[in-house]
Amino acid sequence: MMKIIKGGTVVTTESEFKADVLIQDGKIVAVGRGLSDEGAEVINASEMFVMPGGIDQHVHFSFEFKGEKVRGFETSNAAALGGTTTVIEFVNQEKGKGLIDTIEDYKKENAEGIAMVDYSFHAVITDPSDHVYEEISKLPEMGYPSIKLFMAYKGLFFHADDDVIAKSMAVAKKHGVTMMVHAENADLIDYLQRECVEAGNTSPYYHAISRPPIVEIEATERAINIAKMTGTPLYVVHVSTTGAVDAIKAAKVKGVPIYGETCTHYLTLDKENLARSDFEGAKYVCSPALRDKADREYLWESVKKGWLNAISSDHCGFDWKKQKHMGINDFRDIPNGAPGMENRLSILWTYGVEKGKISRSKLVELFSTNPAMNNGLDHIKGSIEVGHHADIVIYNPKGTYKITNDNSLQGTDYNSYEGFEQKGRVETVLLRGDIIVKDNKFIGQPGQGQFTKCKAYGLVYR
Ligand code: URP
Ligand code: ZN
Ligand code: ZN
Repeated sequence: MMKIIKGGTVVTTESEFKADVLIQDGKIVAVGRGLSDEGAEVINASEMFVMPGGIDQHVHFSFEFKGEKVRGFETSNAAALGGTTTVIEFVNQEKGKGLIDTIEDYKKENAEGIAMVDYSFHAVITDPSDHVYEEISKLPEMGYPSIKLFMAYKGLFFHADDDVIAKSMAVAKKHGVTMMVHAENADLIDYLQRECVEAGNTSPYYHAISRPPIVEIEATERAINIAKMTGTPLYVVHVSTTGAVDAIKAAKVKGVPIYGETCTHYLTLDKENLARSDFEGAKYVCSPALRDKADREYLWESVKKGWLNAISSDHCGFDWKKQKHMGINDFRDIPNGAPGMENRLSILWTYGVEKGKISRSKLVELFSTNPAMNNGLDHIKGSIEVGHHADIVIYNPKGTYKITNDNSLQGTDYNSYEGFEQKGRVETVLLRGDIIVKDNKFIGQPGQGQFTKCKAYGLVYR
């Protein structure tokens, strides 16, 4: 059955224009004015904005921190409700198992038949060996040609040292595999954490104090230097601070292929949230830590000017009551990470577009088109184009709402943006032509999301 989205304003990275969008067999078959709706189901988009479905290139559905695990793909309908139609998840390699076996087993058990949006994966090396380095060459044919390494988290099983980074980069570049790093200096954090705790400073606020900007800046510069040494392009995830942006920018200016993203929370929250009383501050423990207002402003400018090319959620669904309380006596034991996949678009719309910080076209670029390019998905996703998957979000700019966890699908017991004002809302979402959100309600089915192969030689190589 054909569908037609009628009367809306289509937003692309270049411009916006009134047009109808005709959909057949899950793909966009025409974009234009006054298209015939004969034989098609009509979806009204008048006075609304029609944009490509979001691609969230940074989510965690299996992350484990000191034994505590996040919510999984059973909550991926929250991504759909937030206008995101594809998520890319970081899967930590299991000890003694290969990267590919880890992901394939995880996919079968935890994503297939469960996911409610399309998905792919990034491999995370936690147990390096010759076999693992050899596997890097096979990641492209598996459809997940990207690797993340955690420079942070000393003492935890997923920490990677410079030796692992250099070796992985040297292999990755031969196969067009995108190298990503979580850039924070693990040793310096460990030292600062011990200083805090020894002085009796154990509350959540000291998470930020023990992870100052310099630990991120140092690691970002080091990762860039290793990338230069090995001649490998690099993608720095969740950039939070002015100095780290400047390191990326300086490399770019010299023509070194270094790219980065930031996240919704670094653009809208700051470290004072960690000082909230009654252990509420623990809700905002994520790494890198939340920063200051000046960093926030600089990050907005950076995404606007293209120094950072995507905005992800870094969604990490830990509960506050059961899980974050593990660190009630010592902030080092608070699971790192916060939920947010449901709010990415509405937050960027409200605090980016409505506040005049970015245009709607820039929003589309950061929310969907660039993440598609970064991950080798742009041949089928990330823009409203004939031949592309009909992954579409229709945003209604009218109305003012308050974000509350009461109507959230994220499955966690809190929302980082609780009480935030929201302008407009996601009205309708289509996933490969199927309506999965209608009148701001999720109406899709578990298993409707499909594994989607990413291609090697993503944007960092182009
Ligand atoms: O604190 C965070 N960001 N938790 C998720 C894991 C990571 O570091 O990306
Ligand atoms: Zn990280
Ligand atoms: Zn993350």
